[in-house]
Amino acid sequence: VQKDRFKLNELVLYDNNAERQEAVGVIVRHVVEMFDPELKLTLTTDPEVAMADADFIFAQMRVGLYAMREQDEKIPLKYGVVGQETCGPGGMAYGLRSIPGVFQVIDDVRKYAPEAWIINYSNPAAIVAEATRRKYNNYKILNICDMPVEIEARMAEILGCELDDIEVDYFGLNHFGWYTSVRCKGVDVTDKLKEHVRKYGYISEASLNDALVKDPDWAHTFKNAATISTLFQDYLPNTYYQYYLLPDACVEYMDINNTRGMQVVNGREKRIFDASAALKRGEKVDLTQFYVGVHGRFIVDVVKSLAKDLRHRQLVIVPNNGAIENLSDDATVEIPAYITDRGAEPVRVGKIPRFYKGLIEQQDACEGLVVEAVIEGSYQKALEAFTLNRTIPSARVAKEVLDDMIEANKGYWPELK
Ligand code: G6P
Ligand code: MN
Repeated sequence: VQKDRFKLNELVLYDNNAERQEAVGVIVRHVVEMFDPELKLTLTTDPEVAMADADFIFAQMRVGLYAMREQDEKIPLKYGVVGQETCGPGGMAYGLRSIPGVFQVIDDVRKYAPEAWIINYSNPAAIVAEATRRKYNNYKILNICDMPVEIEARMAEILGCELDDIEVDYFGLNHFGWYTSVRCKGVDVTDKLKEHVRKYGYISEASLNDALVKDPDWAHTFKNAATISTLFQDYLPNTYYQYYLLPDACVEYMDINNTRGMQVVNGREKRIFDASAALKRGEKVDLTQFYVGVHGRFIVDVVKSLAKDLRHRQLVIVPNNGAIENLSDDATVEIPAYITDRGAEPVRVGKIPRFYKGLIEQQDACEGLVVEAVIEGSYQKALEAFTLNRTIPSARVAKEVLDDMIEANKGYWPELK
């Protein structure tokens, strides 16, 4: 869609799962043919073929696939604790699986394309980004997440403007941040937005046609921001705060027999694989359902800015290094940054109030301990991480959930001693 502004020579899809790659590849091939038939498309399961000569590597992986997402959600729910992909015990479990896989891909990139930029959005991004900081000092690695920009799309709908008109100030960790002010074409619209969000959350008339909002689970999530922004009126919350600040309400809403992961497998995943099979049989399929949404646009914008030194302002996940003045330098934070050809140049946030600082420091300690648990193979650190997480009510529950998760993750987690 953006080929006039950002022309690609070749697009390579790499997966270590040939069957899944084939199915997804059929759809990608059709979409590429529609938009940019001259673009060379390659599918490979060989990291050398995939990475050699690449300028930009988009990395996203799901270690353990959806079967393990389901476990991440179900095990905590058995104990009355939030069962979620990236937050709470599920997020930490996913982190323990993801880190070794992400390290493997980065090592491959450094071997076959030492100077390529890695744009990583493998989840849980907060924990993965902290791990890449520890191991690689984030050399030519940029960690990103689409949730903030997805919320900004809702803001634009509320305000009746374009997403490109919106500029925000924001601080926090990934899936753990706050909008401190929002401007639309340079005009401060923060109070106007707060008033709307306190009543309706991030939902408005205009958002009802949005593909994401049409999903009842996401609509519920966007609405939950109303409660949080009423309780804490200083800033506007990232939607993921529902799991940390309203965990009881979330557990009540969640269904252990129909977790979010199961909904995705029976919904989005099924639509993709059905469409792929239909295309293979030569049938006609409505491909518009697979066009890029806000997420795709965001990723391309970030890379365009990196490639052409456009200095676009985006929210990215970076080492703090003084940006949030009263937070440790080595915290991995999500803040606005100008994207240059040397990477992200974060803006200075300044001091944050005690309540927000307290929340963030606890979560940052928790995420750092997950990374240390992986690097050191330490059971104790994993237990400390689980105990520190706001979604878990006691050290006893932390140990029970952790021990169950160790069983379920055999072969995926490093051995914890
Ligand atoms: C947002 C988050 C991602 C997360 C996804 C889950 O896009 O930023 O980190 O993976 O939501 O969505 P799903 O529809 O799979 O529950
Ligand atoms: Mn995310």
